[in-house]
Amino acid sequence: MAKLLVLHGPNLNLLGTREPDIYGHATLEDIDADLKARAMAKGHELESFQSNAEHELVARVQAIREDDTDFVLINPAAFTHTSVALRDALAAVAVPFIEVHLSNPHRREPFRHSSYFSDLAVGVVAGFGPLSYGLALVAAMRQLDASVE
Ligand code: DQA
Repeated sequence: MAKLLVLHGPNLNLLGTREPDIYGHATLEDIDADLKARAMAKGHELESFQSNAEHELVARVQAIREDDTDFVLINPAAFTHTSVALRDALAAVAVPFIEVHLSNPHRREPFRHSSYFSDLAVGVVAGFGPLSYGLALVAAMRQLDASVE
């Protein structure tokens, strides 16, 4: 059994009503419940954490040192394009992670085309709406299975 942590950045608490033409109609609760059920079905534990505050996300990442998280899925949201602090926290704990986006930032405004996370990530899944998280979970569980073989 592995421990997975899903981190959601700012404004993702508004999913369902936030620009649904871009982000879809699923709520964050819908997404988290689906991920948890899929992880549990494969015998894994999955916790989700959302914050609008950079320091809370940094603190949650730092806590990985004490809680034995094996793998992280992270949608840093707007912090994707701004947060050296959150990037450094992930680098410090050296946990493998997949960067997730509902939209495809490369099809959007130029300021969304750069990420402080992609070059550290195992991989990036973007552009599939809530399915981006599900695809990232499949990839994470494959990585975890491969690491115990
Ligand atoms: C996002 C893309 C970001 O550019 C944006 O700031 C978000 C959501 C996505 O999931 O598509 O808040 O990360």
